[in-house]
Amino acid sequence: MVPAYLPNPTAALCGGGTPVDFGKTWTDNRRILGDGKTWRGLFFGIFAGIAVGFLEIGLSGTWHLDYLPTLTPSPVILLAAGALIGDMCKSFVKRRIGKNRGSQWPVADQYDLVAGAFVMLAVFDPTWLMANISLPVLLVILILTPILHRAVNILGYRIKVKEVPW
Ligand code: CTP
Ligand code: MG
Repeated sequence: MVPAYLPNPTAALCGGGTPVDFGKTWTDNRRILGDGKTWRGLFFGIFAGIAVGFLEIGLSGTWHLDYLPTLTPSPVILLAAGALIGDMCKSFVKRRIGKNRGSQWPVADQYDLVAGAFVMLAVFDPTWLMANISLPVLLVILILTPILHRAVNILGYRIKVKEVPW
């Protein structure tokens, strides 16, 4: 999951500049995605996720653990891209229900990356998904994700990378 976990904090660190929606509004006169989703964040975030995934692939030769999924380039790319695609889909719905950029939306804010990553895997590499993600692995992901999310966001707030601790 590291290729899916790294894109969000990287986007928070490196993001800024032109928003993905170019500042445009939807038919409800609210922003399509909002200023929290930028091209720079998207690009550096996905790049970081893919880079760490390839590092993992490199290390798996020496450190492979049988009960862990076997990473290949395809799932690495899908996990990294899926994480931020999920994040953008969440922001799209968040704007439609009237929640402002940066406001809290429990559950969705924490699991958007998991949903995005898994939808991408299910669509583009279902064989890998079925062969590698067992029920116990999925359970660990579902428990670990909100804990890591909270911890990293508090850290981001303390070091003043994030404006809010969620
Ligand atoms: N970020 C970015 N580009 C992205 C995703 C994130 O630049 N594609 C940066 C933004 O600076 C954003 C920060 O990372 O404010 C934190 O991301 P997130 O919490 O997902 O965004 P929010 O500002 O909370 O916006 P939203 O309410 O739409 O989730
Ligand atoms: Mg947020």
